[in-house]
Amino acid sequence: MDLQDQLNQAMEAARPVLGTGRVADYIPALAAADPGAFGMALATVDGEVHGVGDWEQPFSIQSISKLFTLALALAVGGDELWQRVGREPSGSPFNSLVQLESEHGIPRNPFINAGAVVVTDRLHTLTGDARAAVRDFLRAESGNALLDSDSVVAASEAQHGHRNAALAHFIASYGNLDNPVETVLQHYYDHCALTASCRDLALAGLFLARHGLRADGSRLLSRSEAKRINAVLLTCGTYDAAGQFAYRVGLPGKSGVGGGVLAVVPGRGTLCAWGPALDAAGNSVAAVAALDAFTTATGWSVF
Ligand code: DON
Repeated sequence: MDLQDQLNQAMEAARPVLGTGRVADYIPALAAADPGAFGMALATVDGEVHGVGDWEQPFSIQSISKLFTLALALAVGGDELWQRVGREPSGSPFNSLVQLESEHGIPRNPFINAGAVVVTDRLHTLTGDARAAVRDFLRAESGNALLDSDSVVAASEAQHGHRNAALAHFIASYGNLDNPVETVLQHYYDHCALTASCRDLALAGLFLARHGLRADGSRLLSRSEAKRINAVLLTCGTYDAAGQFAYRVGLPGKSGVGGGVLAVVPGRGTLCAWGPALDAAGNSVAAVAALDAFTTATGWSVF
């Protein structure tokens, strides 16, 4: 069976759970998403791109952006970042505050909200414009020059962002932010509000499958840095469901509350699946089911 057939079958396998779960509504602008929408894309390191369903429909990438902020912060600023954020799974929800006090304002990992706020701060210091750095990288890697942030989603999140504001102020109280809280949060909301399709994200994530090489052949990260980011994605990318995701899908992956999940098959390619209805951990039920079906049928896994 060829890769397109495998994608078609993965979508069929996810159909029974399409719409299962809840569309995120704590960011009101996301609540209107169609819980029955579904798309999936596959991009290979050899240049093949396949898709099924709504794979070219843009959606809010939300926490998937954290993968790109981390890669860029490490590419530009190197390992110093790890003095300000850890690399251990949190076992807590993505927006949890509880560990920050006992761990003195050093977030557990770069993918929970607290950690991503620190990474955004670092990227902003390094580049002068964190939101533009992430957006321009996504544009270049996907080839979609129109890819941009949805200002309505960003404003909606800012307006209802008491939890993230609390996290950011708490981190700042420990001296772990260089820039003003308001600036960091604005850039964080803007990169979370980037709108991209499964196709765009699969292409944009390929540098991790290519062991650090960008679409134009230039090197973003060393092979070892790419390996390390994939490791943190595997252990922390889907929050307190990372064990379940590793068990079912067997790949490094990053989810977002817009319903997307981007997964990396090192040396082979990337998969991005999207379905807006989420489980209790904030991961798309249909996207995880489709990735599970695809990797189980093809054996495309790191295990
Ligand atoms: O900060 C937030 O809550 C959102 N901008 C992103 C959260 C998210 O996508 C969690 N992922 N599943």
